[in-house]
Amino acid sequence: MPAETVDIVREFPDTTWADDGSTRAVEAVLEDGQVLSFPQLPFVLSEAERRFLDERWADGRAKNISLRWPGGELRGAAGDASDLAALKAMITRYAETSEAFALRLFPHYRGTLRRGNTSFRPAQVAGRETSWRKDDTRLHIDAFPSNPMHGTRLLRVFCNVNPNGQPREWRVGEPFPAHARRYLASITRPLPGSARLMHAMGITKRRRTEYDHVMLQLHDQAKADLDFQRDAPQALVNFAPGTTWVVYSDQVLHAAMGGQHMLEQTFYLDVEHLQRPETSPLRTLERLLNRPLR
Ligand SMILES: [Fe+2]
Repeated sequence: MPAETVDIVREFPDTTWADDGSTRAVEAVLEDGQVLSFPQLPFVLSEAERRFLDERWADGRAKNISLRWPGGELRGAAGDASDLAALKAMITRYAETSEAFALRLFPHYRGTLRRGNTSFRPAQVAGRETSWRKDDTRLHIDAFPSNPMHGTRLLRVFCNVNPNGQPREWRVGEPFPAHARRYLASITRPLPGSARLMHAMGITKRRRTEYDHVMLQLHDQAKADLDFQRDAPQALVNFAPGTTWVVYSDQVLHAAMGGQHMLEQTFYLDVEHLQRPETSPLRTLERLLNRPLR
């Protein structure tokens, strides 16, 4: 049994994605490491689009169907040309709607927030076969082995579009500074030359900085630590269908325990464009280690 619960989900009453919705300028809540939840903000699918709520549209190789921007190429989907065009239109609408929504919630980011991939996840979370490192039912912060972020933030807008009443079940965990302090002493420095070598071999898309090294270590050590997974402060959160939630997934400890049919939009933001850059994982780790992580 976890010793402590955590209380980091803040609910907002918005019922519209449009600019006249009630919530705006809530950068401080997000940057503080809280989850912004909008339980009355469904992403409504048309009658014709509801057929896409089925695992058969995934091509079987990727777990998600995604759109890659700026080009908007559709990946991971299987179907004939007219089906794929309609599926792409649905996911594109989510990208545009969630982007306008993010800029209403976080006007400070206007002009600097960059759109990343949009993903549609028609598969069940529970029961996926994965290695422990890829097992997202374990609490973790997002960090990617092949894609060094150099401190750039990962802002994500999720929406549960399940048609059968099934919630998206998450666990959320301790604040980022406490999490970093838990593992920093056991994180060794990267081997000299390793970042250059991994980039040269194509293992990473660009050079992995020490920031990326530490974030990956935090991700891996937390997932490998079963005592942490079981006993650390945490809370179960159910996001019912029709709920939209917004989070910095590089900062908030999270685990996806169950659910099916979700849309997700990723945005990138450089640390200097935060309202309070000192709240970022990069600045937090630099403060704790007392040196720049470049
Ligand atoms: Fe994650």
